[in-house]
Amino acid sequence: MEFKNDVELDLTNEEVKHNLSQAFKRVSLEMGQKIPFVINGKKIYKDETKDSVNPADKKEVVGKLSLATQSDIDQAIKSCQQAFADWKFVSVSKRNEIAENLVKLIQQNRYELIAWIVTESGKNISEADGEISELVDFIHSYMIGADELKSGLDYLIPSSVEDREARYLPLGVGVAIAPWNFPASILGGMVMGPVLAGNAMLMKPSNDTGVVGYKLFELMESAGFPDGLINFVTGENEEIGDYVVSHPQIRFINFTGSMSVGLHINQLAAVTQLGQKWIKRVVTEMGGKNAIIVDSDADLDKAATGIVQSAFLMQGQKCSAGSRLIVLNSVYDKLIDKIKAKMKKLSNKPAYENGDIGPVIAQRAFDKIKSYIDYGKNDSQNNTLLEGGNYDESTGWFIEPTLFEVTEKSKIFHEEIFGPVLGALKVDTYEKALSLANDTIYGLTGAVYSNNESHIQEAIDKFYVGNLYFNRKTTGAVVYQHPFGGFNMSGTDCKTGTTNYVQQFLELQSVTRSY
Ligand code: SER
Repeated sequence: MEFKNDVELDLTNEEVKHNLSQAFKRVSLEMGQKIPFVINGKKIYKDETKDSVNPADKKEVVGKLSLATQSDIDQAIKSCQQAFADWKFVSVSKRNEIAENLVKLIQQNRYELIAWIVTESGKNISEADGEISELVDFIHSYMIGADELKSGLDYLIPSSVEDREARYLPLGVGVAIAPWNFPASILGGMVMGPVLAGNAMLMKPSNDTGVVGYKLFELMESAGFPDGLINFVTGENEEIGDYVVSHPQIRFINFTGSMSVGLHINQLAAVTQLGQKWIKRVVTEMGGKNAIIVDSDADLDKAATGIVQSAFLMQGQKCSAGSRLIVLNSVYDKLIDKIKAKMKKLSNKPAYENGDIGPVIAQRAFDKIKSYIDYGKNDSQNNTLLEGGNYDESTGWFIEPTLFEVTEKSKIFHEEIFGPVLGALKVDTYEKALSLANDTIYGLTGAVYSNNESHIQEAIDKFYVGNLYFNRKTTGAVVYQHPFGGFNMSGTDCKTGTTNYVQQFLELQSVTRSY
């Protein structure tokens, strides 16, 4: 199978616009319903539910998520184990056929999925459409990955006295614990990578975007994945989060989210439980405090555009977002003026009209981001407000894109805020810029705007991040173009959209038959 990137919608096309507006109407009629969790093909509705709300209008309930208990999780794992017993023997071509059905269903339901994503996550239509393309690309890349790995190792030394083979086997039952910022593509990729490798999965969306998760799960069911192979579970993290990670029958955990939760999961998973027969594998994709360096000979217009996109689109709520700007003294003032001018042009139209600036996901995010803005305003020794700085939670959780000039001591320069707040720092030398860029526990993305070949080479040698970009933004990795995943505390460098990704959910068995 040849890989081709999915093509995004043309949002200027009248028919596309019409289809989108119809989809938003249908979604608004369906909103507020109870959402079940699903075990072995059986929908389970609970009296105990949790509201998922529209972050742009928090009074609007998008769906009521049924809350699973620990004993529901036991059932879900049992059902995954039963499904795994058969699925591990299903051929890669059969598995991929079902995955291709899923891709078709996603395309048929593209407009609805976009409308749900926009409504439940607050991102705009372009971002939501890009997410659908990424989801499709992830599925295709994992189909190819599974196919490439199915014959095992091809370099064993042949022998006349024995047959030798080294083949990949799936691990067993895993759980995907997914974030809210890419509620379809990351969740879908985190489930489909392992499933196409032959595993069974508990699919746990973020409670902030459980409705999108459920809509995607429904398509997986319709595509033909057997009952119980993927069980959809929603619940309070306090009740089921640690429980599922620690469960002795869980073989691996596929996590995307914050560093603190990822490290907690890693620690929990390391404790062997009674009846546990394996060392759990933990795959994590966590945070970032991504730096953008602007060199003295950079194209400043290009840099300003990339910086504003990296820092503020999707409200800065991408792990790849640029949140530290390090600029050579000689171009600092000019660049800041350009950035401020571009920030003023960001449109405040609602997400469903594809405005640039939407809400942040939830109260806790709003409070956290606001506390950094307040800190920046109050600690004037280390921070100067250059642009933005307002926030408003009267209807939804809105925060103005905010730019601070900071010192090296500012918290805004070091801590992940996961919101539309950018700290800019002036430096005298390029060497200093590079050393500051690396002065973080994270290592996800980084960008350098420069036309100086030796500086570019120096960054290639020293800038230690999983995704290093030159003269472009830090966000928007595309499958098969920019394999995505971070170093250091940004995760286990799982590089989504690759064969390496699929391989993490397999183990290698050496089989030798002597004559
Ligand atoms: N892959 C996304 C990006 O590159 C983040 O998850 O922006």
